[in-house]
Amino acid sequence: MESKKFRFKICFLGDEGVGKTSLINRYIEKIFEFDYRPTIGANLLKKDVEFVYKDKKFTCNLMLWDIAGQERYEIIRPLYFKGCVGAFLVYDCTRSKTFENITNDWLKDLLINAEKDVSFILIGNKVDLEHARLVSNEQGKELAEKIDAAEFIETSAKTGENVEDAFKTLVLQILKKLEQKK
Ligand code: GTP
Ligand code: MG
Repeated sequence: MESKKFRFKICFLGDEGVGKTSLINRYIEKIFEFDYRPTIGANLLKKDVEFVYKDKKFTCNLMLWDIAGQERYEIIRPLYFKGCVGAFLVYDCTRSKTFENITNDWLKDLLINAEKDVSFILIGNKVDLEHARLVSNEQGKELAEKIDAAEFIETSAKTGENVEDAFKTLVLQILKKLEQKK
């Protein structure tokens, strides 16, 4: 089977405390921490993954930029979006404000600073807190369509629900775009 290697820069956007760091920790280390330790500035995490797409094997070196959501980091953030071919737009389904800020803030920031044809997916995180939910699945779906996200996925970094799936969906979307360009 033909094999190709790529390096993809992917960033995580969304308000403070929505679970960006937790999603990455769940994906890479399969762990979850209850304590909230805000990300300071940004962290780079790496993971190599292999996918088979259209009878070709793709080895992808993922460069995951975990960017701080706290407002005080607003000025430095765009630096990290530069060159990103993929993004996770994350909100917390128990906090409506974090949902509203996807369109108010994060999407604009991304589209101005990332690669022109950046692939992004909308993530509604913390679905394990069903009793505290304030943003419905339908609202998430509607927003994803409105902003032209490649996909809408509800996740829980705590239980791991759909986390693997979310990463896979985004990477496949990036590969799809690359193949279309040829
Ligand atoms: P910043 O770094 O400040 O931008 O925040 P962040 O988006 O990285 O949030 P972080 O991953 O640090 O998570 C914030 C808090 O929410 C932590 O206390 C986590 O334990 C909790 N949390 C994250 N994901 C989930 C989830 O899926 N379910 C539940 N119940 N709690 C979660
Ligand atoms: Mg963080």
